[in-house]
Amino acid sequence: MKIAVLGTGVVGRTIATKLVSLGHEVTMGSRSAGNEKASAWAKQSGKGAYHRDFARAAESGEIVFACTAGLGTLDALRMAGVLNLRSKVLIDISNALDLSNGFPPVLSFRGDDSLGESIRRAFPEVKVVKTLNTVNAEVMVSPARVPGDHDAFVSGNDIGAKAQVIRILHEWFGWKNLIDLGDITTARGTEAYVLFWLQLMRGLKTTDFNVQVPKQ
Ligand SMILES: NC(=O)c1ccc[n+]([C@@H]2O[C@H](COP(=O)([O-])OP(=O)(O)OC[C@H]3O[C@@H](n4cnc5c(N)ncnc54)[C@H](OP(=O)(O)O)[C@@H]3O)[C@@H](O)[C@H]2O)c1
Repeated sequence: MKIAVLGTGVVGRTIATKLVSLGHEVTMGSRSAGNEKASAWAKQSGKGAYHRDFARAAESGEIVFACTAGLGTLDALRMAGVLNLRSKVLIDISNALDLSNGFPPVLSFRGDDSLGESIRRAFPEVKVVKTLNTVNAEVMVSPARVPGDHDAFVSGNDIGAKAQVIRILHEWFGWKNLIDLGDITTARGTEAYVLFWLQLMRGLKTTDFNVQVPKQ
């Protein structure tokens, strides 16, 4: 499958590397076509790994992962272009964390909104599914790094898109436990949870952890 991964940070590179290892054709997107990190990633990853600017990457992908700094995600998607994103499944992993006053960050959305919803408002024809933003990059593609049962969450309005993303998380990334929270407004919860995740990381001194939601 042809997949666009927007973002050259640790999340973009980790997701893109996993997808290439599964035999997909992956184009990493960034603000400039000559981005050093993207270029190094493509060189190191070899066959099936490409890099372009956000627009050319989004154009090439049958599905698109949004792995950009949360405060820049809407700008990145505008650069990707509405026509290149139209009708596609967009897997949004980003968190709108404002670190301008240092750690801990604050959310740039209040409790009555979220980045996931703002993407949907700005790009109503894109099938936005919010997921994986509640775990570390390595855990996203290797959930077995965390022992025992633990959960990932999906939020989105398009039922078919969510089903496709759940299949991807299960079959490609190895997630066993996935909770469909409901429509995109439920991203408010997972985005706000990240503040707690950061405090846990400080306390536990590791990023290889996650939550389990015991169910009957
Ligand atoms: N790190 C984790 O383990 C983790 C876990 C869960 C969720 N997340 C979320 O995943 C996202 C990616 O995190 P990360 O640590 O991999 O990378 P990051 O440093 O947060 O983001 C890097 C990417 O964001 C783009 N970017 C930055 N500012 C931008 C702007 N103003 N406009 C457009 N694009 C902009 C950069 O573009 P260029 O390539 O052009 O520089 C780069 O591709 C974040 O939203 C983060 O909160 C991270």
